[in-house]
Amino acid sequence: MIALGIEGTAHTCGVGIVDGDANVLANELDMYRPEKGGIHPREAANHHSDVVVPLIVKATQAAGVDLADIDVISFSRGPGLGPCLRTVATAARALAISLGKPLLGVNHCISHLEIGVARTDAVDPVLLYASGGNTQVISFNGGRYRIFGETLDIGIGNMLDKLGRELGIGYYAGPTIEKLALGGRKLLDLPYSVKGMDLAFSGIMTAALTHHARGESLEDICFSVQETCFAMLTEVTERAMAHIEKDEVLLGGGVVQNKRLRAMVNTMAEERGARMHVPEPKLCVDNGAMIAWTGLVMHHAGVRMEVSETKVDQRFRTDEVEVLWR
Ligand code: FE2
Repeated sequence: MIALGIEGTAHTCGVGIVDGDANVLANELDMYRPEKGGIHPREAANHHSDVVVPLIVKATQAAGVDLADIDVISFSRGPGLGPCLRTVATAARALAISLGKPLLGVNHCISHLEIGVARTDAVDPVLLYASGGNTQVISFNGGRYRIFGETLDIGIGNMLDKLGRELGIGYYAGPTIEKLALGGRKLLDLPYSVKGMDLAFSGIMTAALTHHARGESLEDICFSVQETCFAMLTEVTERAMAHIEKDEVLLGGGVVQNKRLRAMVNTMAEERGARMHVPEPKLCVDNGAMIAWTGLVMHHAGVRMEVSETKVDQRFRTDEVEVLWR
């Protein structure tokens, strides 16, 4: 079986093609880059509508398959930005109807976990999903994927991007912050915001900007933000692993490219006799291959959807999905 998946929850529009053994035959993506400020949902949606058809063409060429060879078509139904979701859903519906193929709307967060399980040695992990729009600790428990902890305000990547803008070091600032943090030595006082199993990041950004206004160096600010936020993520992940007695941690989302975050989670895993798994970079970020694979897994388990059941859901919760494939 061959599946095509379209991703478009936020800044990235992606089209991926996978086969039944989770081989990634194609994984094309194009990212919306705002001229100034953050993501404007309507402009991001316009971007997706411009690039989605060329991406479909590019992906089929890269995979060496004809559209007629595709068995299942899936798309990210949510969570995400409404205009972006609707644009990608429309493209997926049009493609599925014109080809007469089954269509499945999939949960974006679950897709990060499914592709990680398919493409690493992880079997039943706790997923630390850290990206721009989402920050969640997810695992399979009691018949569903459950959220064990999550951000109460903004995603960690979103916070790093905003901080980068305020500090004048550019947008999509994560890599620059990581580089600057290597030169930091002083751990500045920032609010360690773990509330129960949940996290909050906006107060940390405000405190970091206060340090900036007082003349602290960019290096020390970036170092302190990373140490504080990543310790919070690692703590919540560890507590989830301890609570449900799992010995695998899987990383997903754009922020897990950060080497300091990986090192902290890896140390935690080693100290509890657990293992850390990280998919290849192009499968960690938002991408079409993970959507294609999740659609294929769902289809294989007998999940079917009428077009009328594929309405997008900006707040699509991980634990709403009935998991028939585990
Ligand atoms: Fe994502």
